[in-house]
Amino acid sequence: MSSPSSLDRSMSAALLRRQQISSFRSLTLAPQGSIDFSSNDFLSLSASASFRASFQRELSRIAHAPLGSGGSRLLDGNSVYAEDLEVDIAGFLQGKAGLLFNSGFDANSGFFACVPQPGDVVVYDELIHASVHEGMRLSRAGRTLPFAHNDVGALEAVLRELVDGDQLVRDGKRNVFVAVETLYSMDGDLAPLQGIVDTIERVFGGGNGYLIVDEAHSTGVYGDMGRGLVCELGLEEKVFARLHTFGKALACNGAIILCSPLVRQYLINYARTLIFTTSLSLPALAAVRAAFTLLWNGDTRDAQDRLHSSIKHLHNQLSRLTSTANCVLQNSDQNNTPIVSVLTPKPRLLAKYLQDRLYLVRPIVYPTVPRGKERVRICVHSANTHEEVDGLVARIGEWVEQEEKAAAVTDMKANL
Ligand SMILES: Cc1ncc(COP(=O)(O)O)c(C=O)c1O
Repeated sequence: MSSPSSLDRSMSAALLRRQQISSFRSLTLAPQGSIDFSSNDFLSLSASASFRASFQRELSRIAHAPLGSGGSRLLDGNSVYAEDLEVDIAGFLQGKAGLLFNSGFDANSGFFACVPQPGDVVVYDELIHASVHEGMRLSRAGRTLPFAHNDVGALEAVLRELVDGDQLVRDGKRNVFVAVETLYSMDGDLAPLQGIVDTIERVFGGGNGYLIVDEAHSTGVYGDMGRGLVCELGLEEKVFARLHTFGKALACNGAIILCSPLVRQYLINYARTLIFTTSLSLPALAAVRAAFTLLWNGDTRDAQDRLHSSIKHLHNQLSRLTSTANCVLQNSDQNNTPIVSVLTPKPRLLAKYLQDRLYLVRPIVYPTVPRGKERVRICVHSANTHEEVDGLVARIGEWVEQEEKAAAVTDMKANL
């Protein structure tokens, strides 16, 4: 047998290091019969009869069109179907123009890589998604600066320091982009969007502060007919660009950036994640149209209402758990979000305890979250019944009690 190559040895060593620090990643499958408290399928569209029927109707309507996209959007991958879809989604979401991307990751990384001009500044919430980091890494921005998560005062301090310390920013000649999400996927909390908008307006009288909002987790969940948080708050005109992804509550793939026609044209010319990739195939586009058709016909209203009822119930039930060293609720002050984190030093053990009882939840460990912030993440869906929520919370309570008892026994033995 030949000895492992130097490359094999390096990769094996890197994987071993990950195992040693408990950050090894692997693909897993949900045990059959699990109750989903994990996926981003917030409206439970993925397996719904209504979405399947809408998709099949859309496929029959376009039965004779070519299935493949044929290339990049700039070459043979464009179609009347894609352009109409963009216009319809942008109209529904109250954006001036829209540009489809193959994924939210592509959209964010493509946008942040090309829109900030040389020397510009990107200020971002410290918990912003990896796709924005990817874009910033590739961008020509002179500086990228974090601000403390969801902290409007901290944002203002960073922006004021920029204005005070940089003549070009002060004169409105250097642009400052502020990148936030609406609903953060790990902490499950909503951004104080109105405060962020007010701060940017207050600091940048010259109009060179631009807000970019990622609605990945809020699409379908908030706003009339699931239009998202920016629409719910009436902030469409205050946001420079908005990202809506289709892979979460809409149960599809892909994403759209809502922006001005000029920004759209710029992205078509400079966003490498749009230019150098095959565009979405017809079945993928048809699925997106099928999902949006449900939204704009009001057919997801019931699911959205059920989701919010489940959210309320989950938060109520969880709030009855007593916080201990083994279990602290991350976002207990916000009770209207479908993502809740249970902070625990033993996320894998808690997740396994719940998974073994067919409650599908995931442990989230370093480096996805900082050390000391390890957790089990719970996502609730419109299809989760109140009884399922009760069962999940009861099992968490059981596990915490067992851990407390075990810790008390250990303490007692140590004191003997
Ligand atoms: C906040 C946020 N933005 C962007 C993305 C990327 O979207 P997509 O899954 O469509 O690539 C995700 C996905 O996890 C996300 O959570």
